[in-house]
Amino acid sequence: MRVCYLLGYPVGHSMSGVMHNAAFRELGLDYRYELKSVPPDELGALVATELRRTDFAGGSVTIPHKIAIIEHLDGVDPSALRIGAVNTIVNEDGRLKGYNTDGTGALMGLTEAYGRVEEARVVMVGAGGAARAIGYHLSTAVRELTIANRTLERAEELATSLSANPECRATVRSIPLERETLRAAIEEADTLVNGTPLGMHPRTNDTPVQKEMLHPGLLVFDMVYNPIKTRLLREAEEAGAATLPGVNMLVYQGATAFKMWTGEDPPVETMKAAVVGALRGS
Ligand SMILES: NC(=O)c1ccc[n+]([C@@H]2O[C@H](COP(=O)([O-])OP(=O)(O)OC[C@H]3O[C@@H](n4cnc5c(N)ncnc54)[C@H](OP(=O)(O)O)[C@@H]3O)[C@@H](O)[C@H]2O)c1
Repeated sequence: MRVCYLLGYPVGHSMSGVMHNAAFRELGLDYRYELKSVPPDELGALVATELRRTDFAGGSVTIPHKIAIIEHLDGVDPSALRIGAVNTIVNEDGRLKGYNTDGTGALMGLTEAYGRVEEARVVMVGAGGAARAIGYHLSTAVRELTIANRTLERAEELATSLSANPECRATVRSIPLERETLRAAIEEADTLVNGTPLGMHPRTNDTPVQKEMLHPGLLVFDMVYNPIKTRLLREAEEAGAATLPGVNMLVYQGATAFKMWTGEDPPVETMKAAVVGALRGS
């Protein structure tokens, strides 16, 4: 039996166990995924003991450990280093290596919904951990990326760091999360990404963008996955826009990690059904 862990604090709300254990069962793999609630001051000791066991295949990392884990690993993938956060660990013959599959997952979901993303003009609200990962991948793939954030300095810092990446192909700029500026940016855009927790359970009436700013030419992608249909997605539908729920990103980032741990092609539909079932029941 090989084991995979989620390291977080707390971990009770996580969908990862349901998703990965369904996938292991579907493929008949002798693997088990466990949630580990790890206080920050115990992270180093846990990595030095349980993650060094030969039956540890790999794991997921969530808040608040995505940055702190880096110093405990033997290596970190260059794109995860540039993002500054690790959400996946792989035991590669006794070496613990860190990756970030959040942005890959988001880009896979967007590409599936949008088709070719090379000409996309994206407005992303938020400049936190998840937005950094998505921003990195978007900046290497799309034409324009506008980052709007409540704390403008954070958006500016992210835009500067993404533009400095030699693989960046987008024109990246930052704007304040201010009504008229945001409205004008969304008017010009064909993709809107919510990278803030606004709208997340239990504050489901919150939304990052007012309904009147949404238009039929938009694809609206909400990283929030609980509830599956957020207020933003509901209002986007009402405005005639296409929508992409955060569940897709969750499943694709998990599927990418699953492939790294097991070497097997992930049963994506099974993983998605497991998450959707758990969210509907919660
Ligand atoms: N679907 C998936 O697979 C997936 C994966 C990862 C994360 N997520 C979701 O993505 C969301 C963000 O997570 P994160 O880890 O990036 O969080 P984070 O690092 O705490 O960043 C939060 C971001 O939201 C902004 N924000 C927070 N409250 C706000 C408010 N009241 N008004 C305006 N802006 C506000 C923050 O702005 P300031 O900079 O001004 O504070 C910051 O840019 C969460 O809902 C999380 O569940 C989804």
